[in-house]
Amino acid sequence: MVHVLLRRDWFGRLRLALTLFGLPYTFCTSRVRPAVACSASYLFSQTIRSISTGCCNLQATMPSSAAPHVKSRCPQYPGSKIKRFAVPDDKVDWSQNWPQYCPVSYTDQAVLKKPVWADPEIGSFSPKFNTVDGGVDRTSFEGPYKEEKGKPLNPHGRTGVTGRGLLGRWGPNHAADPIVTRWKVDAKGAKVNHSVSKQPILQFVSIKRKDCGEWAIPGGMVDPGEQVSLTLQREFSEEALNSLVVPPAQRAKIHERITKLFKSPGFQVFKGYVDDPRNTDNAWMETVAVNFHDESGNSVSELPLQAGDDAGQVQWVDVDSSFPLYASHSHFLELVAKERKAHW
Ligand code: BGC
Repeated sequence: MVHVLLRRDWFGRLRLALTLFGLPYTFCTSRVRPAVACSASYLFSQTIRSISTGCCNLQATMPSSAAPHVKSRCPQYPGSKIKRFAVPDDKVDWSQNWPQYCPVSYTDQAVLKKPVWADPEIGSFSPKFNTVDGGVDRTSFEGPYKEEKGKPLNPHGRTGVTGRGLLGRWGPNHAADPIVTRWKVDAKGAKVNHSVSKQPILQFVSIKRKDCGEWAIPGGMVDPGEQVSLTLQREFSEEALNSLVVPPAQRAKIHERITKLFKSPGFQVFKGYVDDPRNTDNAWMETVAVNFHDESGNSVSELPLQAGDDAGQVQWVDVDSSFPLYASHSHFLELVAKERKAHW
């Protein structure tokens, strides 16, 4: 079990300071997400709402829907040399008439090769949008989305790119993010409080993604016909416990512990559109993030973490605002920390 001492590096401090003062910042944290201009306040475009889970009803506060998506307009499309058509804030909304709009069409070769996780090109194929279509959930958490010339329109507006980019599905691409937490404890098992905030410190299981090298929640895509609750458990098992390759005896123990934890009342932290740099005018990311908490520290906390599948490394990481994370994951953890009255 590895405990990570958080690196309070210059980037984290700068980001925190700018976020606190509500200022936008520009950074480039990985090779696949270059030149992404973003502000923490822009990462989400959700209204304040009550979020209910199967077992408990808890409140999560989402920032206002007024801010236009930002990462979805990053100048260069991830993993490519494609430059997006620049979309100013006041032209993001489709309701703004803009005859000069001339987006670049781009669908990555990996998607065009027709892997099982991707749709074919429209023309030869006519998906049924806003419904569950042959096991593929094409409904959006945002409500019904529009179509134009047989293609779905991003509910958060223009992105400067048409086609699917790196995303397999036309319309919403559904993911699930399991946030597994425990309290940080000392040698005697007592909770450790943060020296400044004086609040107890939470730890969560974090993976280092192989694709971009960023630390992230071990989430992944929902398979056709799969229940989100299963995706949460499967992705966690594959990426943080390497369940795909562990010996059968160990696999059974892992399965038993994980099933117990994932059956416990989870806190649904977020459900909706994600401002992800892979988004296009016709394909976008949506996710459900759920927190599973090991209060006593003797459930999943005792399992040996081992990186697998899309994860290069895996560790328990202290939950702290200065730790930079992939996509919108930092915001999810902030909501978890607030809910559990932990240090942020
Ligand atoms: C990742 C999730 C992430 C989602 C939206 C997925 O590819 O696995 O962790 O929340 O994209 O950015």
